Amino acid sequence: MTVEPPPIPRAAGSLPLFGHALQLVPDPLPFIASLRRRYGPLVEITLQPRTRTLVVQDPALIRAMLTDPIAPTLDKGRFFDEMRDLLGDSVVTVAGEEHRRKRLQLQPAFARPEVARYVDIMRAETEAAVDGWQPGQRIDVRETMIHLSLDMLTKTVFSDRLDGDAFSQLRQNLAVVMDSIGLRIMLPDWVKRLPLPLNFRFNRARDAVRATISGAVAELRTSDHDAGDMLALLLTVQDEKTGLPLTDQQICSEILTLALAGTENSATVLAWVIYELARRPDVEAHVLAELNEVLGDRPVAFGDIARLPYLERVIKEVLRLNHTGWLVTRRTLTETKLGQWTLPAGTDLAYCQHALHRDPALFPEPLRFDPDRWLDGTQELPQGAFLPWGAGKHRCIGDRFAMAELITALATILRRVRFALAPGQTVRPVARATVRPGKMQMTVQARRTSAGHE
Ligand code: HEM
Repeated sequence: MTVEPPPIPRAAGSLPLFGHALQLVPDPLPFIASLRRRYGPLVEITLQPRTRTLVVQDPALIRAMLTDPIAPTLDKGRFFDEMRDLLGDSVVTVAGEEHRRKRLQLQPAFARPEVARYVDIMRAETEAAVDGWQPGQRIDVRETMIHLSLDMLTKTVFSDRLDGDAFSQLRQNLAVVMDSIGLRIMLPDWVKRLPLPLNFRFNRARDAVRATISGAVAELRTSDHDAGDMLALLLTVQDEKTGLPLTDQQICSEILTLALAGTENSATVLAWVIYELARRPDVEAHVLAELNEVLGDRPVAFGDIARLPYLERVIKEVLRLNHTGWLVTRRTLTETKLGQWTLPAGTDLAYCQHALHRDPALFPEPLRFDPDRWLDGTQELPQGAFLPWGAGKHRCIGDRFAMAELITALATILRRVRFALAPGQTVRPVARATVRPGKMQMTVQARRTSAGHE
């Protein structure tokens, strides 16, 4: 006898033309968090009229959605459709065989020996950034960290062969595009076709971003190809399917993908670590004591990355409390089994790391920033409950790079300066294309050494 799976509930409040846009647009995070409290492992919401989006809430089902054996029947879904509008077909927007080929092309730049080589460059970039900050200066910490991450990425993976000015120009337009994408995911598609300022702004910024990258690639074509870096790789590789070199458009797509994926997330994590340390002198003192003990007076090097367990727990706790992902999607290409449910082709699936990592059933007192919850044996988690890098075939390709960059940057910054918050200042997470801090203005202060000197 086959047992029918329970019906999948529909979240209350959907309107005919708008779906759940009215609940999502003002601030999607409380709405998505409320779904976890009110409904079971799967709940249906409407982002696009007549399209089902199932929010997957149960850790085991989320894991199943991300990993084999069901993953081959899944495309990347709504979030990545929006990203494709900006990026074209790249490793992050495509699925299946095409994804496998693209991922293999990029993989060598993220291997362990490469990352070992990058650490000295990352440290030098961070030193240069810190040199530019003046005591007493108020800075927007996330914006500053975006610049730093972008510098670290261009100097490592791209061997400093991309025009720095072109990349700075990119930032402003990318910020507009990423904010618009955040909104466009929540709005039904018909709104995107209206002659609204929001749509004009998005189209203009997207076209400017692509034009800047195309210009940079055209220039590279005329320069020496063989710097042994990611660009050399992209310029010389042959498309497995066509046997032809990659087109400029394909190269632009991959560069832009790395420029985005490699800065949005890392910069946000750096900013939240700096913020939490400013609020928690005890945690900050512990981090500094560890840095002092392990590094003494010498600069951080690749060999230290695995020797700073407390700093690693601080980063892990930020990846839990303030994860950047709020609507990671997939779409069924064929009838697909997920747990006890059989989903028809064309069903959108989504999960929210931000809400998952704040679920009190998984993480006691979830809003408390507590790096020690990650001490060995302190907490037993079911598989799929903590997914900072995702899982399966699309797991973050830059996880090792990111950890090296975060630890190197923090070990360098924290020993030279501290960032202070104004009394009573708090910063809330806001969801755009990714979840990031709202305005995070902080004041730079020179760090006093243990001997009391500045
Ligand atoms: C703290 C920093 C980072 C976090 C939290 C993060 C998180 C993630 C997550 C959760 C995914 C999986 C998305 C999915 O399931 O569809 C992902 C994919 C990806 N990430 Fe990261 N990431 C970080 C840093 C980086 C860096 C530094 C790079 C490159 C320089 C990078 C490049 C990518 C790429 C290319 C993908 C797509 C992989 C694929 O689909 O095969 N990420 N990242």
